[in-house]
Amino acid sequence: MSIQSEFELEQLRIAGQIVRRALNAMSAAVAPGVTTAELDTVCERVLTEDGATSAPRKVYAFPGAACISVNDEVVHGVPGPRTLQTGDLVKLDVTVEKNGFYADAAVTVRVGEVSEQADALARCAESAFRKAMKVARTGYRVYEIGRAVEREVRGHGFSVLREYCGHGIGRTIHEQPTVPNYLDLNNRARLTDGLVLAVEPIIAAGGWRSTVDGDGWTVRTADHSLAAHYEHTVVITRGEPILITAA
Ligand code: CO
Repeated sequence: MSIQSEFELEQLRIAGQIVRRALNAMSAAVAPGVTTAELDTVCERVLTEDGATSAPRKVYAFPGAACISVNDEVVHGVPGPRTLQTGDLVKLDVTVEKNGFYADAAVTVRVGEVSEQADALARCAESAFRKAMKVARTGYRVYEIGRAVEREVRGHGFSVLREYCGHGIGRTIHEQPTVPNYLDLNNRARLTDGLVLAVEPIIAAGGWRSTVDGDGWTVRTADHSLAAHYEHTVVITRGEPILITAA
């Protein structure tokens, strides 16, 4: 969507702050021995308290409130009996709907002490997002976001998962435009004031290829290398984008 009024911006902020509360509560609950189903229950509790619904469940019948992906699982991990262990990287991805407005964010959380590579990968997903924010502004082209992300990720010796992209958002979970995390010169549309995007570097320590598990949801790296993910819903302006899902 493109924000047309203060009212719409306020509604989007309300959805965004519910996402933040859910991610913070889930992050605080991450510890060795905790199951991903337990983290999902934490998300569910926040959404219920705030009168919000899980967008992946509502729109795609996803079997959980949040997508929770561990280590080589990249995105769309299904919450379940898996127990977190020290050294794991767990990606928490929450999209909510509140009053017909949608916001989406993700973080990569370290379980206890993690390897140097895992730490560098998690930091890189976030720094790639920050680089993208320099060009996520009115008048720039969509592909400049992908160029900024890809440059940062490659610079660290990591790769971008090419099959999963950022996206427009606001009145449903996935809207136009698609926002690749690599340079795609076909993606020439210009960013405009008020455009709402989910910008989300999805990266791996190894190759860019991924597979989908037999559950039909869980995406993992084809080479089983570690993956990291960092995402905010942002509103495009002439200056710094407004981070709807930030604290
Ligand atoms: Co997203």
